[in-house]
Amino acid sequence: MKIVTNIARAAAAAAGALPRTPSLAGLDLLASAVVMVDAEGRIAFANAAAENMLESSLKALSRQRLCDLFTNPAELEHVIGQARTHKHSDLRQDLTLERVAREPLHVHTIVSALDEPAGAVLLELRETVQQMKLDREERLLDQSQVNKELIRNLAHEIKNPLGGIRGAAQLLEMELPPLHLQNLREYTQVIIKEADRLQTLVDRLLAPHRRPHIVGDVNIHEVLERVRSLIMAEFPAGLRIVRDYDASLPEFRGDKEQLIQTVLNIAHNAAQALSGQIEEGSAQITFKTRVARQVTLAKVRYNLALDLHIIDNGPGIPPQIRDRIFYPLVSGRDGGSGLGLTLAQTFVHQHMGVIECESRPGYTDFRILLPLP
Ligand SMILES: Nc1ncnc2c1ncn2[C@@H]1O[C@H](COP(=O)(O)OP(=O)(O)OP(=O)(O)O)[C@@H](O)[C@H]1O
Ligand SMILES: [Mg+2]
Repeated sequence: MKIVTNIARAAAAAAGALPRTPSLAGLDLLASAVVMVDAEGRIAFANAAAENMLESSLKALSRQRLCDLFTNPAELEHVIGQARTHKHSDLRQDLTLERVAREPLHVHTIVSALDEPAGAVLLELRETVQQMKLDREERLLDQSQVNKELIRNLAHEIKNPLGGIRGAAQLLEMELPPLHLQNLREYTQVIIKEADRLQTLVDRLLAPHRRPHIVGDVNIHEVLERVRSLIMAEFPAGLRIVRDYDASLPEFRGDKEQLIQTVLNIAHNAAQALSGQIEEGSAQITFKTRVARQVTLAKVRYNLALDLHIIDNGPGIPPQIRDRIFYPLVSGRDGGSGLGLTLAQTFVHQHMGVIECESRPGYTDFRILLPLP
């Protein structure tokens, strides 16, 4: 509502002016398509997202009536008419707009009537799929925040008595009568070993929350080269690591050690999943870097972002855990603790970025997007 009002104000300020004036240039930064139509229904302005959606330039669009772009304009005409007559500040509707020889557009439409110029209407169009994706991302983000809090509290609760349990077992062992020492020591050792195992687990769970976020200039290719040499040292034969780097990527502020840990956890999982191919000699991991433009990460829009892919040709993530791999303690491996990806996600979030995964047999792609200056 507020955004719409601001857009309306900006557009009204430049009403009648077709080219991008400075006050309208800001609209090009929006992910939503924004179109202003005049009293005759002709397009007076379209921002960059609208040009994208309508697959046409502002110059070409400005000669046309918006409703003429679609073969079923009735509903659109109806909402525009309603907005004009009732001066709704914010009229919402989901429409399917059909275009000649193209996919229909499923859009969530917000229509606002402008005071000036008379009869002008501002439309905000958002593809429904895009809206659903945003909603889902937002939900996942909230959920992972709640999960993190839960894990952290739980880890603390487990950690506190652990030292006591271990210490008590040690004392008990010292007090054992020599006669039974041999037999009973086995039990105290179980307690001590399990307490140590839990301690390591809990320390890993708490590590990302405890370590200060050390920020310096990071060159992502240095990070990748470090990980590459670590993986090559562990898997010296049968595994190829392909580098597909965009050398123009700028440095950015971040915590290099955390980023190395992040990429290492992902690449390490890939190498582990590739054990079959490593034996055959066909295993391959690709590190690919690119620049992404105009992306929204965790609800914030950035002009530039690092687009990093870690791709392997392994069997893919087991379908039964595919939706939950970033949750702690979810593992598809014998002996896996299920923390590698949780940590990776936490570190990426600490860098204001997002991490996502696409996987099918023969192709698994972990994608990390991080804002660039
Ligand atoms: N590239 C991949 N290919 C196939 N499966 C994967 C891949 N990456 C992750 N997985 C699956 O996701 C699970 C979770 O990974 P994660 O790194 O979080 O935990 P882990 O590797 O089991 O244990 P840890 O990393 O804590 O030692 C893995 O056990 C594995 O089943
Ligand atoms: Mg792992």
